[in-house]
Amino acid sequence: MDILGIGYIGVESPNHREWTTFGPEVLGFGLAAAREGDESVYLRMDDRKYRIAIHPGETERVAYIGWEVANRPAFDAAIAKLEANDTEVTMGDEELAGRRAVLEVARFKDPVGYQHELFFGQRFASRSFVPGRPHGGFVADELGVGHMVLITPEYPPELDHFLSEVMGFRWFGQGFNGKRGQIGFYAAKLTTLSHSIAYIKVPGHRGLHHIGIGVNDLDDVGIANDLVLERGTGMVNSLGRHTQDPVISFYPITPSGFAFEYMNGGMTSDSWGLIGERNPERVSVWGHKPVSPGMPKSVLPVDSAAH
Ligand SMILES: [Fe+2]
Repeated sequence: MDILGIGYIGVESPNHREWTTFGPEVLGFGLAAAREGDESVYLRMDDRKYRIAIHPGETERVAYIGWEVANRPAFDAAIAKLEANDTEVTMGDEELAGRRAVLEVARFKDPVGYQHELFFGQRFASRSFVPGRPHGGFVADELGVGHMVLITPEYPPELDHFLSEVMGFRWFGQGFNGKRGQIGFYAAKLTTLSHSIAYIKVPGHRGLHHIGIGVNDLDDVGIANDLVLERGTGMVNSLGRHTQDPVISFYPITPSGFAFEYMNGGMTSDSWGLIGERNPERVSVWGHKPVSPGMPKSVLPVDSAAH
């Protein structure tokens, strides 16, 4: 299917209110107004209505991952592809499309139980984006939200088949020291980013590890790093440059336990398409030292983690 990338992400969190300060003040997100009675926090990265929603909820969990396609023909073709694979697809009604600010939306689950959505036509307002603090802007627009990394207790062959053959993602690699079938990085078919989503097998656990977002200016990575250190909000890994896709990034911990990979630079399809599959000996050229080792608090034992 012809997916452009991640258009929006929704998470649930008991700590959703903390995002109204952390999101804009530390990471520079804009805030979108919520409808009356909706306590969710909607973060903006560009002129789209919102990119990341934090809804009130009892546990930390990924509520939905919104994949964007160009238009109705691509939407219909994608649904046909899912149904041909015996994946149950639920069409979203007008109410849901309104909440997501899209023209059409459909819902389905992947083989390990994460909730995905497919949509086209998310609302936008030209020149409406105002960052939460002085900031050079995010890598978003036609690329959408960068990527996300999910933890899965099982990595059955059906998952790899689903991502590669049904979703139509390009294989990017198995990371540092990884093994296909235990860890996989995949890129939406039509994106120029090196990857859109990764699944990592951690027996007995599931949850969101991090969301990767790009910023236009390296200085904004440094400034965010300073703010996290000043406020003591914590990070999973320190500033560093990766090997597989050579972004400069660090991993601030959010009020919901998961991290962001806050990054600048890296590959585009022009370069990584020619290089082929990469097999790095180290995860980073420099830096990315563990600051808070172990899994983020958003990764929970399967008994307690709602799907
Ligand atoms: Fe990442």
